[in-house]
Amino acid sequence: MMTRKITVIASVFIIFLLTFSVSAQTSSWSEVAPGVWKMSVGTPDKLDLFRAADIKPALNALSKLGTAAFPLPPERITAQTGNGTTRLSFPLEKEEKIFGFGLNFKTVYQRGRILQLHVDHYGGTDNGRTHAPVPFYITDRGYGVFINSSRYLTVYAGTGVRKDSPDAPGERDRNTDDNWTAQPYSDAVEILVPTSGVEVYVFAGPSMLDAVRRFNLYSGGGCLPPRWGLGFTQRVPRLYTSAQVVNEAKLFEEHGFPLDFIGLEPGWQSRSYPCTLEWDTSRFPDPLAFIRIMKEMGIRLNLWTNPYISSKSSIYEKILPFTGSHTVWGGVVPDLTLPGAVEIITDQIDKSQVSIGISGYKIDESDGYDRWLWPDVAQFPSGNSAEQIRQTYGLLLQKITTDLFHRKNQRTFGLTRSSNGGGSSFPYVIYNDYYSHEDFITALINSGFAGVLWTPEVRSSKTGEEWLRRFQTVCFSPMAMINAWSSGTRPWSFPEVEKEVKEYALLRMQLIPYLYSEFAKYHFEGTPPFRGMNLEPGFNFRSKQVIKNSDLGEDPYGEAIVKEIRDQYMTGEYLLVAPLFTGQTTREVILPEGRWFDFYTGNYAGDGEIIKVTPGLGKIPVFVKDGAIIPMMKPVLHSTSAGQKFDLEIRYYGSAPGFYRLYDDDGETFDYEQGLYSWRDIHVMPDKKGKIKGTISKSEKGKPDNIGEVAWRFMTVN
Ligand code: GAL
Repeated sequence: MMTRKITVIASVFIIFLLTFSVSAQTSSWSEVAPGVWKMSVGTPDKLDLFRAADIKPALNALSKLGTAAFPLPPERITAQTGNGTTRLSFPLEKEEKIFGFGLNFKTVYQRGRILQLHVDHYGGTDNGRTHAPVPFYITDRGYGVFINSSRYLTVYAGTGVRKDSPDAPGERDRNTDDNWTAQPYSDAVEILVPTSGVEVYVFAGPSMLDAVRRFNLYSGGGCLPPRWGLGFTQRVPRLYTSAQVVNEAKLFEEHGFPLDFIGLEPGWQSRSYPCTLEWDTSRFPDPLAFIRIMKEMGIRLNLWTNPYISSKSSIYEKILPFTGSHTVWGGVVPDLTLPGAVEIITDQIDKSQVSIGISGYKIDESDGYDRWLWPDVAQFPSGNSAEQIRQTYGLLLQKITTDLFHRKNQRTFGLTRSSNGGGSSFPYVIYNDYYSHEDFITALINSGFAGVLWTPEVRSSKTGEEWLRRFQTVCFSPMAMINAWSSGTRPWSFPEVEKEVKEYALLRMQLIPYLYSEFAKYHFEGTPPFRGMNLEPGFNFRSKQVIKNSDLGEDPYGEAIVKEIRDQYMTGEYLLVAPLFTGQTTREVILPEGRWFDFYTGNYAGDGEIIKVTPGLGKIPVFVKDGAIIPMMKPVLHSTSAGQKFDLEIRYYGSAPGFYRLYDDDGETFDYEQGLYSWRDIHVMPDKKGKIKGTISKSEKGKPDNIGEVAWRFMTVN
């Protein structure tokens, strides 16, 4: 053997002929939280993803998930350093499926792919270059692996075959063997880290969803947006003036469309690309008065910015010593790993924006493109490499505003164009300039594997049909938004579907109690609020059940299990959403095991089968599990504010005993961190006479209680 197998004890390493190999034994791994193990290899970089995100692991919540055995054979995990690199290898079983590796747009299964994880604007191919190239993967064996590195990592997700593989495929003769294949079976995920050391984490299950939960909780728990963040948001054209923005809000009111916050695009700043982080006084002569008028109308404001500082900004001279060697659009690039740079930016946005009532940000252009951004030869005063700054910039930017709003005890919910591993707790949703409706749904699915949020934002459309189809899906996403920065569209831009668009905008508002509780589960339990079917417990894609009503052929489920499910997803615990795209009038929906019901009618839809639906343009198919409880509220135009009571309409589906935990707090501050929140237990079951009855527990004494009257709607008539 060329390399020697050793066990790493603490950080003692043996250097053997310039290269050393660690065949990791259990003792190499230290359990840093229940079901979470860490191994340090070689000399890891000081700047890694978890440090950039400044994670605060939610240890109490992790203990609730319980302990678990180390989920992989430790002797089959190897780590070697040498030649300025680290080479990692993790075992794979034959049928094992891999998910994750960040915000992919076209693929869900990652086995067999080669990726270079690199923060970039998505360029139309799933090659690792994306807005959140999170080096985290999970498999259907129920565990996750995270490489805590701020480098461009090359991932061979089950492609390479080692000579010493215990399960090598062997050779076949192509001349004579029909089973010869160009891609022989590989039994490992191998990762090249371009530096001589790295921290690696393993997250136990038992289910894939549990591994994701542990990852999110270790990253600090998912973000909890303010209630208003879950309402509707409109971004206005880039050069709008304050008067035009006020008018925009009035138009929403007149049309009876909900609106919680408006996004101002580049024109609010005196210069953009690069930015001054200062108001443009011709378009916004009196920001304070403007913000007050908007607040009185129930509308908050979100400000677009990018991080490159113009020489015309009042902070330019101050920030100059803290910037890198290169410029972007002529602006200087703050080295955000330096506290001095962070302080200057924080003071600037606090003083002129947050302290006068601005509620959030859209942090643009932190991802790429290569030809715009600083090149990898750039230097930064901290000594961190250009590559490391690139991989962490989205995290570092999100942290500035997250911390500022936290200090003010005020929640925010905004947009970012890049993120990375460890960013789950940042109250930011990723978006981009790409515009494929289908791929936007795949991204929504992949966001749930990666600990990030994604919005399939609506911008423009060729037809009313496309407009409505896109609108329907954005209402079942983390941020219900029209981004009209260049199109100038409004929800009613296509009069032929205005009625249907309004129905979904209002449905979004009705669903806030449910969505808010699902986000609370993201925060307190790590469960992603939007996720792919593969994370759904009943979606047992290995089971060979008989599929009814299907025209997929003789073994339809066989096809379903090999086919990636890229076009249906879960919104929270109970809602299965199956969008239709332009030109489609009918589609198939895979209903996992268990009885499922139509969300709109309560009618039985199927059980562990593939159904065909023809919903009409006015509906996006949504299905609900047996026993589902969906707490809803009256359609409102603005989400309720702290202390404002709202009445509930609690819907119940099917006939199984129903249980739901409804989350309640003030909806705006971080007082929940001091325990000022309550979970209200909702039960629905037959009483002694067999009559269905619902109950909801009282809120705890001294805790916020926003629930007014409760009405029950039993949707399924048996
Ligand atoms: C783009 C961004 C758009 C919009 C635009 C304004 O980079 O993705 O959503 O904000 O900038 O110039």
